[in-house]
Amino acid sequence: MEEQIAKGGGVPRHIAIIMDGNGRWAQAQGQSRIMGHRAGADAVRKVVEAASKRGVKVLTLFAFSSENWKRPQIEVNALMRLFAETIQLETPNLKSHNIKTVVVGDTSRFSTSLQESIDELQAATVDCTGLVLQIAANYGGRWDLLQVTRALAMKCAMGLMDPSAIDEKVITSYLSVADDVDLLIRTGGEKRISNFLLWQAAYSEVYFSDVLWPDFDAAQLDLAIDFFNSRERRFGMTSEQVKNQEDFKC
Ligand code: FPP
Repeated sequence: MEEQIAKGGGVPRHIAIIMDGNGRWAQAQGQSRIMGHRAGADAVRKVVEAASKRGVKVLTLFAFSSENWKRPQIEVNALMRLFAETIQLETPNLKSHNIKTVVVGDTSRFSTSLQESIDELQAATVDCTGLVLQIAANYGGRWDLLQVTRALAMKCAMGLMDPSAIDEKVITSYLSVADDVDLLIRTGGEKRISNFLLWQAAYSEVYFSDVLWPDFDAAQLDLAIDFFNSRERRFGMTSEQVKNQEDFKC
């Protein structure tokens, strides 16, 4: 069946997703949490394909947060295995769909073999010109701001930069995710940002879905895009100013 293009016509340039609800999905089926994560990986495949077809430029998925190490060791190990398996399985598909894939986050804590798989995935898709897929792994918004702060402080301490030269543009250029998020989606019914893209989501439209991540699909993505198209983005201005700007554009 032909997939529907979202009503309103506009497609957010950068969509970021907090994929929540794998564990509850599995428990509801009497399965182990890791089976929920496996079903979550299937949903990732469908949503990446749908986002690419709809012309989204950047898709950032929160696969593993800086805080997820606190989970039971057995679950953390299973997530690491799933991550490695998914990379092996999906690298050729991502390349053939022209999807440039990068992993953002502090990957130094991962095993050497996982780090090598990540390097191979990134190298295999580096020349792709379609959707940019960013997998946030061992990522946290505070970590990202901390690594920027350290790098800039170091540069200043070495006399290579004047602190007065630090502005929003400079900070953005040091972040591991450079693009502002247009639409932030969280599945699974919770209504929080959970240390995701704190700087980059400053002016995101935020869509909370009760759907558990393994059940999130192309149709659910279209609902989120419809929501995005129903919003007036004001970036601190008044509604009148925004409307005048739009009239001016025509
Ligand atoms: C949150 O659900 C999900 C995660 C912490 C892991 C996300 C991983 C995947 C979607 C699968 C693998 C992804 C890739 C890119 C290979 P939860 O476990 O917190 O769910 P709960 O709130 O129902 O317990």
